Amino acid sequence: MDRLLVKGGRPLSGEISISGAKNAALPVLAATLLTDEAMVIGNVPYLHDITTTTELLARMGSRITLHEQMRLEVDNSTLQHMYAPYELVRTMRASILVLGPLLARYGRAEVSLPGGCAIGPRPVDLHLRGLRAMGAEIEVENGYIKARARRLRAAELNLELVTVTGTENLMMAATLAQGTTVLNNAAREPEVIDLADCLNAMGARIDGAGGDRIVVQGVDSLHGIRHDIIPDRIEAGTYLVGATMTGGRILLRNICANLMQSVLAKLREAGAEILTRENNLELDMRGRKPRAVNVHTAPFPGFPTDMQAQFTALNSIAEGTGAITEQVFENRFMHIQELLRMGANLRLEGNTAISRGVPALLGAPVMATDLRASASLVLAGLVAHGETQINRIYHIDRGYETIEEKLSLLGARIQRIFGETPGTRSRRRNIA
Ligand code: UD1
Repeated sequence: MDRLLVKGGRPLSGEISISGAKNAALPVLAATLLTDEAMVIGNVPYLHDITTTTELLARMGSRITLHEQMRLEVDNSTLQHMYAPYELVRTMRASILVLGPLLARYGRAEVSLPGGCAIGPRPVDLHLRGLRAMGAEIEVENGYIKARARRLRAAELNLELVTVTGTENLMMAATLAQGTTVLNNAAREPEVIDLADCLNAMGARIDGAGGDRIVVQGVDSLHGIRHDIIPDRIEAGTYLVGATMTGGRILLRNICANLMQSVLAKLREAGAEILTRENNLELDMRGRKPRAVNVHTAPFPGFPTDMQAQFTALNSIAEGTGAITEQVFENRFMHIQELLRMGANLRLEGNTAISRGVPALLGAPVMATDLRASASLVLAGLVAHGETQINRIYHIDRGYETIEEKLSLLGARIQRIFGETPGTRSRRRNIA
């Protein structure tokens, strides 16, 4: 299994380009199931979660061609198996996104139940309840969701909780349903808007995406188009936290600053000077240490839960005391134990992590437990004295495109140690 070695102590400095958003690319790939015509998707990030999705589609019978610059062409005219197996779904919960499109387009689907994960139980009951209200017959048997419908019909759906993939699944299902579906308490995330833009360009009639009430007028069919994925606001935010923690100065290209206002506000509060121009953003800490901040995670436009772990790492070395409250997921503080091993002064009170910044963290071997927790450990490594070894980095590869290369471009000392397989010695790829 690959590991990352980080030697702390250098401020991040330089320029990098931000990749397309994983959480926008996954639902758009699922949306290709809604048409027989070829779709071309640009600005797709090169990530494990993307290859898991293309493998899922390919196993169903879709033909996928990779063009230069991660442009994917997906042709679902030969789809045969409306089936998402456990071995793929268990590695990526977002596989549940194929359920709505398969039901809407083919009237049947068999998708493994995702099960629990490191950040809490994360059920899919709201997805299933919405599809049932649209006329689907759904049974859960032997760990699989088995769903059928002649043609889905419109319904007024009141989502009990704000759910991002739930909103996306039901919005996709509603595009081909009979009548006008209303989604109340819908997620307002930019990735939901990107999906709605893509679906509308395919011929869907969706109004209100980006607000909490989405209205979808069902149509008979959708057609193929070319769609470019929006930039990844979480990837961008992670590098900005890294620059803030290290007292650095970086320029990010291909970003969309107005999707990141809650994070930028907290970085400014921490002492960062931020300038945005068109698709670029420059952050300068002028060599200063950050100040601790208080954060409450919430659905968009609130502070994203996917940035919580990175800000916990920031607070652990900041001036003063900070409180970080996680309100979206239960049990999303697995990184705290690892940060404590690096010398952080953090304590958990209910769902709030309270920190008193320490002058320095100390490098240590640490274990990544989920995608964003892993990123927070890399950031901690950037400011730690000595060497930090981050194990189980397959989590990072799910969501960060070549993190070690991008950080090296920003001057960090980081290298990937390729995992040992029987009969071979581990190889070091020295990027720093
Ligand atoms: C998506 C993102 C993930 C992000 C999360 C919250 C993708 C691929 N993933 O995950 O990166 O951390 O939004 O911004 O876009 N819930 C239920 N029942 C359901 C659905 C959700 O109880 O049927 C609960 C969850 O357990 C959680 C909350 O609702 O407590 C929000 O989850 P949700 O927005 O659905 O997260 P995901 O869509 O899985």
